[in-house]
Amino acid sequence: MVNFKEEIAKLIAEHVEGLSLEEIQGMIEIPQDKKMGDYAFPCFKLAKTLRKAPPLIAMGIAKGIEENEIFEKVEQVNAYVNMFVSKEALVKDVVSEVIAQGSEFGKSNVGEGKPVIVEFSSPNIAKPFHIGHIRSTVIGNSINKIYDAMGYDVIRINHLGDYGTQFGKMICAYRHWGNKEDVINEPIKTLLSYYTKFHVEAETHPELEDEAREIFTKLEHGEQEEVELWQWFRDESLKEFNRVYNMLGISFDSYAGESFYSDKMPRFVQELKDKGLLEESRGAQIVDLEEEGLGVALITKSDGSTLYITRDIAAAVYRKETYDFYKNIYVVASQQNLHFQQWFKILEKMGYEYSKDCVHVPFGLVSLEEGTMSTRHGRVVFLEDVLNRAVDQTKEIIKEKGVNTDNIDETAKQVGIGAVIFNELSNNRIKDYVFSWDKVLDFNGETGPYVQYTYARCASVLRNAGEEEASKAMDVANLKAEYITGDSAYELAKLLYALPQTVIDAGEKYEPSVVTRHIVNIAQGFNRFYHDEHILVDNEDEKVAKLALVAATKTAIKNGLALLGMEAPERM
Ligand code: ARG
Repeated sequence: MVNFKEEIAKLIAEHVEGLSLEEIQGMIEIPQDKKMGDYAFPCFKLAKTLRKAPPLIAMGIAKGIEENEIFEKVEQVNAYVNMFVSKEALVKDVVSEVIAQGSEFGKSNVGEGKPVIVEFSSPNIAKPFHIGHIRSTVIGNSINKIYDAMGYDVIRINHLGDYGTQFGKMICAYRHWGNKEDVINEPIKTLLSYYTKFHVEAETHPELEDEAREIFTKLEHGEQEEVELWQWFRDESLKEFNRVYNMLGISFDSYAGESFYSDKMPRFVQELKDKGLLEESRGAQIVDLEEEGLGVALITKSDGSTLYITRDIAAAVYRKETYDFYKNIYVVASQQNLHFQQWFKILEKMGYEYSKDCVHVPFGLVSLEEGTMSTRHGRVVFLEDVLNRAVDQTKEIIKEKGVNTDNIDETAKQVGIGAVIFNELSNNRIKDYVFSWDKVLDFNGETGPYVQYTYARCASVLRNAGEEEASKAMDVANLKAEYITGDSAYELAKLLYALPQTVIDAGEKYEPSVVTRHIVNIAQGFNRFYHDEHILVDNEDEKVAKLALVAATKTAIKNGLALLGMEAPERM
């Protein structure tokens, strides 16, 4: 597509001195108010060097650039040069590009094949995969897709919580009270119940604690029986996690979790010692970060066992050595802010300059609306149950509304699960939010179903036009753009034009909600156009041009939804 900002910067550069092309481009604004044009250039900054009043400078520039075919109109208003792009040129350019690029539209090459790690989801095995995990899972998945669209080589890692003393307890409990069938039927609920039973029993039988410790030591030393049990718990848990990942359409390149680093840590403990960073404190080994205002980080316990943070340090070094990452991104709750600050700092003190390329992307808490789900006494709400319920409720709504679909089960899945994902990605990630069924499944609000419905509406318009007309619309060389320059058509085309840059902005901020909001804007823009204009008119050229805009919108929505990890139903 024509990069209007860049073209305009080139034109302006011919009329101002002392500013680089990049500086000028950086100064160009996109006014909120349409009356101020599509682009505006403020001249305040130039007053000093040019020794002229800003309005005079603006007037000079406006006069200088107005004779150019990319503009419909150029105006000086106070200190601003307001520029109105030729509607026809823009619309023609956008619509033909979107149609030509198809599923590639929205992508860019700013990442040029640089390796980026996105670590997300990372649940703890044998623990419930609950509603709280939806955040890292869905936000992380979207960030991975956004980075992929920016041209980076993304490596998706699930840093499973699959290591620690609790596995000694679980194996111990299994040996005393366990049952193989139960574990196979419902791994996580069963393993969790063993874990709970262990704690209850250990109160009256403290010797269980010693037994569990011993088992964990055996596990650490790689003793076959313990390793096999642990491996089995891990496999069964993963099967259950994978059911959720399948529902969400998520996959990973690596499940190298905490256990993967269990034999890689001595090297770092030694290295910390050699670099004089380690101190002893009551038998434990610590790194003192008080001077940096980050407290004290515990590296090994008094019994020599390593900790969560030690494994993160080992993992970062391993990842650098294995993938030579350009960025190493962690999508993890904001409760762990201090943890990440601490070990990023330790890595830096160890002399690993790529500490600066490790990025913690935090997010706020999700809580449940009272009454909509049983949250009494902290009863866990499993993510799988939430997704299933979303699908079931969507099916009811579809039946009630008499929505026509080819396959109600498939549509209910796309819409129900999509609704949960969309809701999750609607707000700035750092905000806490309350999960509300009414909001999630509202077909008229700024929701997933609303956007998908708009997509299906585009599809239906094209179907109604008939195959022949729809295929004429794809012939962009003959596009008569003058028919799609009305207010709502033009605004819609501008929104499509902005999608690729929006994706880059979202990636730079690690903020999928930027994309979510933009897709809502596109959907609203389309519905305005659909309301304002009659599409299937008699005039053939006009009809085909309008259908081309519909087809371009359909593509943009589909690509946008894909970046969130959502599907787009053709009928609903
Ligand atoms: N398993 C951890 C939890 O559930 C999250 C892991 C985050 N990633 C990391 N590299 N520390 O809290």
